Amino acid sequence: MGFGKVGVVGLGTMGAGIAEVLARGGVETVGVEVNDTALERGRTGIEGSTARAVTRGKLTEEARDEILGRITFSTDFKALADCDLVIEAVPELISLKAKVFAQLDEVCRPDAVLATNTSSLSVTEIAAATSRPESIVGVHFFNPAPVMKLVEVIYSERSRPEYVEAVTALVRDLGKVPVTIGDRAGFVANRLLFGLLGPAAQLVESGVAKEDIDASLKDLGLPMGPLTLMDLIGLDTCLEVLEAVHADSGSPRHAPAGILRKLVGEGSVGRKSGGGFYTYERAGSGTVVAPVEGTASAEIAESLYGPYLEDAAEMVRSGYCTADDADAAMTLGCGFPVGPIAALRERGAWTD
Ligand code: 3HC
Repeated sequence: MGFGKVGVVGLGTMGAGIAEVLARGGVETVGVEVNDTALERGRTGIEGSTARAVTRGKLTEEARDEILGRITFSTDFKALADCDLVIEAVPELISLKAKVFAQLDEVCRPDAVLATNTSSLSVTEIAAATSRPESIVGVHFFNPAPVMKLVEVIYSERSRPEYVEAVTALVRDLGKVPVTIGDRAGFVANRLLFGLLGPAAQLVESGVAKEDIDASLKDLGLPMGPLTLMDLIGLDTCLEVLEAVHADSGSPRHAPAGILRKLVGEGSVGRKSGGGFYTYERAGSGTVVAPVEGTASAEIAESLYGPYLEDAAEMVRSGYCTADDADAAMTLGCGFPVGPIAALRERGAWTD
């Protein structure tokens, strides 16, 4: 089973990135948005990202034109009628996802695979909202989608195994690394990552300087401090993921900090709005206004990193994923220099 033509519904940060990944992989891609303004924003995002690659000498203008030529844009779901696979990447509201899948039910071929890029909702619950739950698979990309190598492929109790295998194969063909797992809040990467990000936000609330928290984790070799990363992901998304994981784990470490709720309530949702934990020179920019150099502290680092390692050990022991999956998720999905189980081995705290 191959996917010659793939649709993407929702061209926000993740959807636009996913459409770019597909088109770069030679797949004919259809991007669908709810109205012309959102469609133009998505198109501009993809054009900007590929233009940056040309400027950096990573793509020729010819290759860029070919990539953009593979993507068609529409505000009409009927444009998805002949797609072999459709990936939904709309905001994380079950009512909205159910509405999208009801529309997909109407227009898509009966043998089309329907995927959700949900980061916090249950794939099983989304599947239950459709008339063809066996066709639903989770396909979870990481931000920035064109850069991060990991894609989690999630199967529900009802997913047809051959659909899961076909999506896993597509992910590999796109040059990404699939980790295929069952449905559980946060899957592998978000479950582990947010066990570190949630407590980092709680530390800010208790008065620790955000720059010090970020400097401490960067000192361990992480590509970004946790608060900078939350601003990149989007604080609205972070809040949704923490709420979903907290509802499942009950752990106080996953309880969303008040400051996170406050920032989201004010519309300060991170880079995309121009401000979150940090203030950026404009919406969409990663350049912080008046940056302050933080002081790294081994104590802060260990207070966040140690429990994260314990979470990973517990996840592997529970049989949810393998040690290799946990390590791949964190190195390829979040850019950690070493996976959690490998880190535990280095500390002499893990035996296979
Ligand atoms: N879109 C496309 N490409 C981008 C990009 C973007 N938004 N941001 C950076 N890049 C590319 C650059 O063009 C560059 O490509 P090149 O090497 O081919 O020239 C490459 O990425 C490296 O970029 P930079 O040199 O500008 O920056 P860094 O070296 O600092 O890397 C980073 C940036 C890749 C974002 C790195 O800091 C990183 O890995 N951060 C961690 C990201 C992470 O953890 N993501 C997962 C979040 S969780 C998630 O998404 C799940 C969700 O459900 C919440």
